[in-house]
Amino acid sequence: MDGSQDVRRACLSSIRVLFVCLGNICRSPLAEGVFRSIVEEHGQNDRITVDSAGTSGWHIGSAPDERMCHTARKYGLQIDQLKGRQFEASDLSSFDYIFAMDKSNLRDMLSLDPGHKYASKVRLFREFDPHPEDYQVPDPYYGGKEGFDHVYDIVERTSRMIFHRVAAEHQLSVDVK
Ligand code: 4NP
Repeated sequence: MDGSQDVRRACLSSIRVLFVCLGNICRSPLAEGVFRSIVEEHGQNDRITVDSAGTSGWHIGSAPDERMCHTARKYGLQIDQLKGRQFEASDLSSFDYIFAMDKSNLRDMLSLDPGHKYASKVRLFREFDPHPEDYQVPDPYYGGKEGFDHVYDIVERTSRMIFHRVAAEHQLSVDVK
């Protein structure tokens, strides 16, 4: 393979986006599903890879919480097939964008990066929310079902902002929707 093909392949390699919460059964799998649907809506599946993880290992291999799946289904999204996994230090290097749902998730991830090598790509998800309030996605796990709808609203509007930011940074040609 000549050098120009290498350059083209590097330019077209996938942009990797990761969403992280505590359990990886409520907020981050919803963000994964919502963000992936926005990527598909804009025909960018070949360019953007989406994943999610939890800082804890409590729900490894589990499907998302049924209440979160139910909320997602109300909006036409299927997330039941996702499986929980634990965030690991290697994610810091292998993803291009890492979004923490709350400040403790952010702290836990940054504790795996004592040299601050990756700190600039680990951000609070709600930094990109037009109505960021306290910059955290509230954990709906111990609350009522209205909490899940509230999380959906936050995740939907913020994911759109993040998608357009990523698209602009990588000069992807997408329509503004
Ligand atoms: P998540 O919510 O971090 O949005 O997935 C939680 C899920 C499970 C638990 C806490 C939060 N838990 O204590 O098991």
